[in-house]
Amino acid sequence: MTNQLSERIIRVDHAGEYGAARIYAGQLAVLGRSRHAGTLQHMKDQEQVHLDTFAGLIAARRVRPTALLPFWNIAGFALGVVTAAMGTRAAMACTVAVEETIDEHYAAQEAALETDEDEAPLRATIAKFRAEELEHRDIGLANEAEKAIGYRLLSRVIKTGCKAAIALSERV
Ligand SMILES: [Fe+2]
Ligand SMILES: [Fe+2]
Repeated sequence: MTNQLSERIIRVDHAGEYGAARIYAGQLAVLGRSRHAGTLQHMKDQEQVHLDTFAGLIAARRVRPTALLPFWNIAGFALGVVTAAMGTRAAMACTVAVEETIDEHYAAQEAALETDEDEAPLRATIAKFRAEELEHRDIGLANEAEKAIGYRLLSRVIKTGCKAAIALSERV
């Protein structure tokens, strides 16, 4: 039996990983022939593993997915395309903003699951993925994310959007 907390966690993380995969797909649509293509593909491949894992949990534990998936499909891809069109630094700034938000989000989930022994495997999954999200953030920083024009504003806008997406996907 899936309790309410785990259900909310699985629903929102499935939505988030879906969105993340779409962001990198959008960036690859623009930068697929750039020198960053391999890096973007590496991150997209990891997001796909994250997404497949949560899709598996959605099915196995009969969690209702968020009704907003069609929206995250378009919004994620659009965010990827727009930031990539602004340049590789803006694309990397998007990655840093998204992954920093997800790091906080996953850390909070790990803390919330701390005392729930039944959910130890879910917690371990989240911890593993969080380490990879931090790797993505570091890739963004190593590729001059902070030198993007309007970095602070861009970062703030994307983080605000991510947080709104998280709040909606937990419930809707
Ligand atoms: Fe991910
Ligand atoms: Fe990521």
